[in-house]
Amino acid sequence: MTDTSLAWTDAGAAESLAPEDVVALEVEGREIAVFGVDGQFYATDNICTHGHARLCDGFLLGEEVECPLHQGRFDVRTGRPTCDPVTEPLRTYPIRIEGGRVFVALSGG
Ligand code: FES
Repeated sequence: MTDTSLAWTDAGAAESLAPEDVVALEVEGREIAVFGVDGQFYATDNICTHGHARLCDGFLLGEEVECPLHQGRFDVRTGRPTCDPVTEPLRTYPIRIEGGRVFVALSGG
Protein backbone atom coordinates (compact mmCIF):
# COMPACT_ATOMS: atom_id res chain seq x y z
CA MET A 1 0.00 0.00 0.00
CA THR A 2 1.29 3.45 -0.91
CA ASP A 3 2.09 5.79 1.94
CA THR A 4 0.37 9.00 0.85
CA SER A 5 2.03 11.00 3.62
CA LEU A 6 5.35 10.75 1.76
CA ALA A 7 6.48 12.87 -1.21
CA TRP A 8 7.30 10.33 -3.91
CA THR A 9 9.69 11.26 -6.73
CA ASP A 10 9.67 9.44 -10.06
CA ALA A 11 13.19 7.98 -10.34
CA GLY A 12 12.90 6.35 -13.76
CA ALA A 13 11.85 3.15 -15.45
CA ALA A 14 11.54 0.05 -13.28
CA GLU A 15 13.25 -1.99 -16.00
CA SER A 16 16.50 -0.19 -15.11
CA LEU A 17 16.53 -1.98 -11.74
CA ALA A 18 18.34 -5.28 -11.33
CA PRO A 19 17.05 -8.16 -9.20
CA GLU A 20 19.88 -9.49 -7.00
CA ASP A 21 22.16 -6.60 -7.98
CA VAL A 22 22.64 -2.88 -7.40
CA VAL A 23 22.11 0.09 -9.71
CA ALA A 24 22.69 3.80 -9.13
CA LEU A 25 19.96 6.35 -9.81
CA GLU A 26 20.07 10.12 -9.61
CA VAL A 27 17.00 11.47 -7.86
CA GLU A 28 16.68 15.25 -7.59
CA GLY A 29 20.48 15.59 -7.68
CA ARG A 30 21.07 12.92 -5.04
CA GLU A 31 22.84 9.65 -5.82
CA ILE A 32 20.75 6.72 -4.69
CA ALA A 33 21.68 3.03 -4.77
CA VAL A 34 18.84 0.57 -5.37
CA PHE A 35 19.49 -3.01 -4.29
CA GLY A 36 17.49 -6.04 -5.38
CA VAL A 37 17.23 -8.63 -2.60
CA ASP A 38 14.88 -11.63 -2.61
CA GLY A 39 12.37 -10.00 -4.96
CA GLN A 40 12.32 -6.70 -3.04
CA PHE A 41 14.06 -3.41 -3.77
CA TYR A 42 15.78 -1.24 -1.17
CA ALA A 43 17.07 2.31 -1.66
CA THR A 44 19.95 3.92 0.22
CA ASP A 45 22.45 6.72 -0.28
CA ASN A 46 25.01 5.57 -2.82
CA ILE A 47 28.00 7.10 -1.02
CA CYS A 48 29.58 5.15 1.84
CA THR A 49 29.45 6.84 5.26
CA HIS A 50 33.14 6.02 5.84
CA GLY A 51 34.68 7.66 2.77
CA HIS A 52 33.83 8.79 -0.71
CA ALA A 53 33.16 5.45 -2.35
CA ARG A 54 30.15 4.57 -4.47
CA LEU A 55 28.36 1.53 -3.09
CA CYS A 56 27.02 0.69 -6.56
CA ASP A 57 30.62 -0.27 -7.35
CA GLY A 58 30.71 -2.65 -4.38
CA PHE A 59 29.50 -6.20 -4.00
CA LEU A 60 26.01 -7.25 -3.00
CA LEU A 61 26.21 -10.32 -0.79
CA GLY A 62 22.66 -11.34 0.11
CA GLU A 63 21.21 -8.38 2.01
CA GLU A 64 24.62 -6.79 2.62
CA VAL A 65 26.65 -4.51 0.38
CA GLU A 66 30.42 -4.48 0.71
CA CYS A 67 32.05 -1.12 0.05
CA PRO A 68 34.65 -1.29 -2.74
CA LEU A 69 37.15 0.94 -0.91
CA HIS A 70 37.75 -0.59 2.56
CA GLN A 71 35.31 -3.52 2.50
CA GLY A 72 33.00 -2.14 5.19
CA ARG A 73 29.49 -3.56 4.97
CA PHE A 74 25.92 -2.34 5.43
CA ASP A 75 22.59 -4.12 5.64
CA VAL A 76 20.84 -2.55 2.64
CA ARG A 77 17.39 -3.12 4.19
CA THR A 78 18.10 -0.94 7.23
CA GLY A 79 21.36 0.91 6.47
CA ARG A 80 22.90 -0.62 9.61
CA PRO A 81 26.70 -1.08 9.52
CA THR A 82 27.59 -4.78 9.81
CA CYS A 83 31.37 -4.84 9.39
CA ASP A 84 34.32 -2.54 10.25
CA PRO A 85 35.46 0.05 9.40
CA VAL A 86 31.99 1.54 8.87
CA THR A 87 30.26 2.78 12.02
CA GLU A 88 27.75 5.33 10.72
CA PRO A 89 24.50 3.97 9.31
CA LEU A 90 23.61 4.53 5.70
CA ARG A 91 20.53 6.62 5.01
CA THR A 92 17.67 4.58 3.59
CA TYR A 93 14.66 5.70 1.56
CA PRO A 94 11.20 4.26 1.00
CA ILE A 95 10.89 2.88 -2.53
CA ARG A 96 7.97 1.54 -4.53
CA ILE A 97 7.37 0.28 -8.04
CA GLU A 98 4.16 1.29 -9.75
CA GLY A 99 3.08 1.35 -13.38
CA GLY A 100 6.56 0.35 -14.54
CA ARG A 101 8.16 3.30 -12.74
CA VAL A 102 10.37 3.57 -9.67
CA PHE A 103 9.34 6.02 -6.96
CA VAL A 104 11.60 7.08 -4.09
CA ALA A 105 10.62 9.19 -1.08
CA LEU A 106 13.69 11.33 -0.33
CA SER A 107 12.17 12.79 2.82
CA GLY A 108 11.27 9.39 4.25
CA GLY A 109 13.39 6.57 5.63
S1 FES B 1 34.92 4.20 2.10
FE1 FES B 1 33.50 2.59 2.45
S2 FES B 1 34.46 1.37 3.97
FE2 FES B 1 35.83 3.04 3.67
